[in-house]
Amino acid sequence: RLLDDRPKPLAGKTAIVTSGPTHEPIDPVRYIANRSSGKQGHAIAAALAELGAAVNLVSGPVAIPDPVGVETTHVESARDMLDAVTKSLPADIAVMVAAVADWRVDGQSDQKIKKAPGESPPPLLLTENPDILKTVGHHDKRPKLVVGFAAETQNLEDNARGKLERKGADWIVANDVSPETGIMGGDRNRVRIVSHDGVEDWEDMDKQAVARRLAQKIATAVDASR
Ligand code: CTP
Ligand code: CA
Repeated sequence: RLLDDRPKPLAGKTAIVTSGPTHEPIDPVRYIANRSSGKQGHAIAAALAELGAAVNLVSGPVAIPDPVGVETTHVESARDMLDAVTKSLPADIAVMVAAVADWRVDGQSDQKIKKAPGESPPPLLLTENPDILKTVGHHDKRPKLVVGFAAETQNLEDNARGKLERKGADWIVANDVSPETGIMGGDRNRVRIVSHDGVEDWEDMDKQAVARRLAQKIATAVDASR
């Protein structure tokens, strides 16, 4: 758009957004990962940029293009994502949408692990990854507004509230990712925003619409705290 004269309520503000999965190497050719298309996180980065924010998107490996008008950093593992995120602090807003792998392989192999006839499969020893949202939520350069996501298959609200408290977030955007909802990998989303003030239940809408509405809500909150 050459002539974009829409209001820019986030002009002068900076935002960090994480999106996509992380890949945790087993060896040079294999990895473990979470399911994530990056659609929701990328759409949120784009929506914040449309409202005038300078957005730093830190994305794990995804098959979708970098959003226009957004500075994008590509990472693979959770530890690399944490590095990229902390390097882009301070910021006014953080929205952590990435499906970060909770565990990585302890003692990954430098060489491709080979099958040997008659030998049993190699065991995978896992170790916990850093929690990026929790680190940002308790950081001495903590952004004014910290938003996390919670993908749940049961006890949506209780689990989301637990994450809100534990991770030092202001809001948790909770969604039910049970296979029958079709949310994972799909274009639609139905979310509940859990905050210290209560719960907002949003109707089913496409991921772009969730992104635009969330960006508006963020702009309103940031404006109120000016
Ligand atoms: N998150 C993160 N770093 C991690 C794990 C999660 O930044 N290592 C962030 C996600 O980006 C999301 C929020 O924390 O914003 C919740 O992620 P989720 O996987 O739902 O929560 P966990 O605390 O990992 O709990 P569990 O997977 O056991 O439900
Ligand atoms: Ca997790």
